[in-house]
Amino acid sequence: MTDIDSTADGLRAAAPSGSASDAAPVRHAQWSSRLAFILAATGSAVGLGNIWKFPYITGEYGGGAFVLVYLACIAVIGIPIMMAEVALGRRGGQSPINTMRRILREDGRSRHWALIGWLGVAAAFLILTFYSVIGGWAVAYVVRAGGGAFSGASSDGIAALFSGLLASPGELLFWHGVFMALTVAVVARGVSGGLERATSILMPALFVILLVLVGYALASGHFSQGLRFLFSPDFSKIGVGGVLAALGHAFFTLSLGMGVMIAYGSYLPRGVSITRTAVSVSVMDTTVALLAGLAIFPLVYANGLEPSAGPGLVFKTLPLAFGQMPLGGLFGAAFFVLLVFAAWTSSISLLEPLVEWLEEHRGVRRGIAAAAAGIVAWVIGIASALSFNLWADVRPLGMFAAFADKGIFDLLDYLTANLMLPLVGLATAVFAGWVLSPRILEGELSEGRGHVFRLWRFLIRWVSPVAVAAVFWHNLG
Ligand code: PHE
Repeated sequence: MTDIDSTADGLRAAAPSGSASDAAPVRHAQWSSRLAFILAATGSAVGLGNIWKFPYITGEYGGGAFVLVYLACIAVIGIPIMMAEVALGRRGGQSPINTMRRILREDGRSRHWALIGWLGVAAAFLILTFYSVIGGWAVAYVVRAGGGAFSGASSDGIAALFSGLLASPGELLFWHGVFMALTVAVVARGVSGGLERATSILMPALFVILLVLVGYALASGHFSQGLRFLFSPDFSKIGVGGVLAALGHAFFTLSLGMGVMIAYGSYLPRGVSITRTAVSVSVMDTTVALLAGLAIFPLVYANGLEPSAGPGLVFKTLPLAFGQMPLGGLFGAAFFVLLVFAAWTSSISLLEPLVEWLEEHRGVRRGIAAAAAGIVAWVIGIASALSFNLWADVRPLGMFAAFADKGIFDLLDYLTANLMLPLVGLATAVFAGWVLSPRILEGELSEGRGHVFRLWRFLIRWVSPVAVAAVFWHNLG
């Protein structure tokens, strides 16, 4: 046994040997229970990806067939990688960067693999800069819906509402700031007082609102059309692009490849089954995405609108539906509150890995680390916000044909979600399946049931890397 003992006591007691450069010899805060971890990790997973993105990409790829492929990706690729990340986090007990360093030292592997930790923390932080801009739209829409802005508005009126928001730099920066402040306020309070408390209130509230909205959609009279759209597969519509989009989205929606699950895993007490929690989180995340589809598509059909409206589905198509339905103002506001809650519990998980690392690193105080990181993220996010108006024509990588039409926001979204995330995900699968000695994670994952570990090891060695490499090359092309 080396410094990382497989018991909690061992971990607490032992200082890392020969590790003068690494801070934090002791494991830091812990989730108070298995449920607390599940709520926090589900909070991270359930976000704009579920409620904004999943319905519109499902719409674009024709419904049921896309949903089936997406479910398969979650089961055989997403879950094994999530298990690997959480297991690495619990094994190392520190921020993604120090967790990787510590495990590499223990297993005598090349230090270069710590890049997984660095890239993960960087990707999460970069995503936060623009995720917060969209989170800000959602906050702005709560106010609009609550103020009755949708009621009776024409489709032009609703479209103007959205383009008006995007055209105003001041408004965008304000709402981006409000959303970032919400994020910092939670992270600054720490794991139990902040993350755990916020997710234990916001996630149940999110489920209740979602169920109420599904009930409202049921009452719209077009529920079966929505059901049919989501669940009757038409494979002629999906194609290679759809399969790859499903796989890419499985990663994004489960918050993989960004150090987030490593960071959350580092607070996971021993004795909690990682397999069962990873399955629970994935099932809940998928359930929320499907329920969001069941809340949205019946309303779209009830009002004769298009399910394939693209990214504007939630901000343009849906408000139109609310504007025409009884009690639409109230339910519209509820929908955007749901969107804010989902985005908020995700954005805290995007800020956490960096804050955890800053805290370990020369002991920066958490409140200061969270505020400083939040301010820097807000400032960098200004570029994304302005790319919808004043800087709409700026093409930072315009000299490359592949990026010629991408503004700042699109570019950041593309570089992080489509390049960094699959790259880190692939590296994680290769590292956990091929590089690391099996014994390192076996104690975390087998729980006395060898077949679970063997199945996981097969998937992480053979299925995940091949599939992720395919997505990666496709996105590069
Ligand atoms: N999973 C979140 C969503 O679906 C986004 C996210 C990605 C959050 C990565 C944290 C880390 O919106």
